[in-house]
Amino acid sequence: YNVPKAVNEPVKGYAPGSPEKEELLATYKAMYNSNIDVPMHINGEEVRTGNTKNITPPHDHKHVVGQYHTADKTHVDAAISTALAAREAWSSVSWMERAAIFLKAAELLAGPYRARMNAATMIAQSKNVYQAEIDAACEMIDFFRFNVEYMTDIFKDQPTSSPGVWNRVEYRPLEGFIYAISPFNFTSIAANLPASAALMGNVVVWKPSDHQAYSAQVIVDLFKEAGLPDGVINVVYGDPVMISDTVLASPDFSGLHFTGSTHVFKELWKQIGTNIHTYKTYPRIVGETGGKDFIWVHNSSNPLQVATAMTRGAFEYQGQKCSAASRSYIPASLWPEVKKHLIAQASELKMGSPEDTSNFINAVIHEGSFDKITSYIEAAKKDKDAEIIIGGNHDKSVGYFIEPTVIVSQSPKYATMTTELFGPVMTVYVYEDADWEASLKLVDESTEYGLTGAIFSTDRYIVEKASKALENAAGNFYINDKPSGAVVGQQPFGGARASGTNDKAGSAQNLLRWTSVRLIKETL
Ligand code: ALA
Repeated sequence: YNVPKAVNEPVKGYAPGSPEKEELLATYKAMYNSNIDVPMHINGEEVRTGNTKNITPPHDHKHVVGQYHTADKTHVDAAISTALAAREAWSSVSWMERAAIFLKAAELLAGPYRARMNAATMIAQSKNVYQAEIDAACEMIDFFRFNVEYMTDIFKDQPTSSPGVWNRVEYRPLEGFIYAISPFNFTSIAANLPASAALMGNVVVWKPSDHQAYSAQVIVDLFKEAGLPDGVINVVYGDPVMISDTVLASPDFSGLHFTGSTHVFKELWKQIGTNIHTYKTYPRIVGETGGKDFIWVHNSSNPLQVATAMTRGAFEYQGQKCSAASRSYIPASLWPEVKKHLIAQASELKMGSPEDTSNFINAVIHEGSFDKITSYIEAAKKDKDAEIIIGGNHDKSVGYFIEPTVIVSQSPKYATMTTELFGPVMTVYVYEDADWEASLKLVDESTEYGLTGAIFSTDRYIVEKASKALENAAGNFYINDKPSGAVVGQQPFGGARASGTNDKAGSAQNLLRWTSVRLIKETL
């Protein structure tokens, strides 16, 4: 079990004139000005159906950088049968060889694939270079490295034996195939959903978000170069309802590894329930879904520290993180100072294309998202319950740009206080200092979610009280830090309530969901 000790990949700085910055920008330019044709991948073959959709940068949506091919039902059926055909060989590959493939993928990504993976994420998902680096490079590398270590931790867990009797457990892949559905917002999560199941010996049908097709292609190339056999991970794009209907109708469907919206996850769960009598095995269902993540502040906090956490927590990657802070509860005595710092910090955030690395804010992912977010901003402009104190402007003529926006509402159930917008909008509720305990109840009860949250206080008694009051409100709970930016190996990630099954991405617990344990008692 002496796999290389997992360490977090150091984050590169992309300082002006640094070799990594030169390489990245040259790669970005070349990719931006060429046309990529993204096929589906079934049995290691590139499948081009001719039914294509354009890939356009959200920050420059009239510019086409390529297209991806979409499936009809026959392609999804082929992806399933291919996965099943590959299962026997893959599940017989020793765990060491499987580990070696993903460790190799980590090293390739740390080296020659880094610029391409980051550039694809910047171009088609509109991430700035620093957000791309911590996601598409470092977090993905970390998932591969740490999961290998977690796998060996799992294998070491064995029952006791006695003279003449050897008890042992085999951590076998599930019988059937895994269906991975991944989101646009994290390239690393997109890779990890199929990869973690495959590492444990499973075969996979993977449906990436159409909006992530560009970086998904780089992931496919990476896995191939690292030595992943054909048919282990099969990739399809297209109509999500048709794809899911086809996959979930298969008797061999044995697990769902999902990151996406709460609504879709619940619908899939319902469908799996309806089909339950048709499956050969009870499917594993693992999902990380929505959030309405909070920052709660006590008057014993430092206003500058709070404002910095609010700015970064709410506006990094345009708030398109399931972990993004989108509602804050601030005591009245601290609010003037927090507001002053917040306005100062937000006014420094430049907005534009990721190619100019001084832009902190890029575009939101697509027009539907832009329209949804801006409809709430426009409503807030007219609403007597709301006041926009920062931002509020938006423009979709070139790219889907929305200014970082802060709304103040004295109605704790105001729409933007409770609805997940997945955009650069933070709503603040100012409470009377003496009501701090009541405000904790508001945090806990205002939404159905339980993903991430942060509390700020320098008073240990308050920290303890708030931690207790919010014990079910956040699967990832941060004390005196922003509620986003979990690092693999340090903060395993996931939430409960309507936010998911809390099977913590980047943990042994998650990998265990992709195994079916066989206990063997041998009398010697
Ligand atoms: N794991 C990501 C974060 O913590 C979603 O921000």
